[in-house]
Amino acid sequence: MKGIILAGGMGTRLYPLTKVTNKHLLPVGKEPMIFNPIKQLISTGIEDILVVTSKEHMGEVVRLLGSGKELGCDFSFKVQEDAIGIAQALSLGENFASGDSITVILGDNIATHSIKPYVDNFIFQGKGAKVLLTKVEDPERYGVAALDELRVVEIEEKPLYPKSNYAVIGIYMYDNQVFDIIRNIKPSARGEYEITSVNNVYIEKGQLTYDILEGEWTDAGTFESLECANRMLFKTDNKILLN
Ligand code: DAU
Repeated sequence: MKGIILAGGMGTRLYPLTKVTNKHLLPVGKEPMIFNPIKQLISTGIEDILVVTSKEHMGEVVRLLGSGKELGCDFSFKVQEDAIGIAQALSLGENFASGDSITVILGDNIATHSIKPYVDNFIFQGKGAKVLLTKVEDPERYGVAALDELRVVEIEEKPLYPKSNYAVIGIYMYDNQVFDIIRNIKPSARGEYEITSVNNVYIEKGQLTYDILEGEWTDAGTFESLECANRMLFKTDNKILLN
């Protein structure tokens, strides 16, 4: 299992904080935001981590992270030329994955408790994909899962009328089919290659499982959620808690 952190995008919702720096380098608690997804991956036992970011910010990201020696992992880096969607950013990881399964974390997703139990469940599952869900009060901001007793039956990206309060958070596990799936998806109405389209293909194949996330989670892409992320990580002293 290898890890991929997607840290491209424009961060426009955080202007002017992101005018000269990358969103994922902003402070959350006592560390840069991207440290939380890195520490999450390390907490699962993953050591090989690919970081995807924009060409404008690659220099700063590499200067911060280096080889990974200090953090106890091994970094690779890839440039996403244009921010045309999460699935497109993920497609850049195909050679890095080289046949292995992957855990993918969006660089602005902050979680207090280790995701190791879910990664272990996915390794046991052996095939397909897994998403993690959490109950939220504003589902229209996220990918939203429609559920029956056992399965996710559909995921809708930022629906006007959400079918549940369960957000699909930005932590995903995929087998190596994911890269073929991405090659065949079409851009959404907003012109992006959506990760939700990828997850819906796994649903059609009957190969998508889910777990409900324990502990606190937020994204940190808006001023309000960045403030919430700060509060969460000051409380935990930026440590990843074990379940
Ligand atoms: O946070 C969870 C949500 O993240 C999910 O519920 C949604 O299904 C998913 O689409 C995503 O929604 P957002 O609107 O929050 O995504 P955003 O465009 O803010 O991108 C999130 C991260 O993904 C961002 O911090 C960097 C990375 N990214 C995004 C884009 C569009 C890239 O690396 N490249 C990109 O082109």
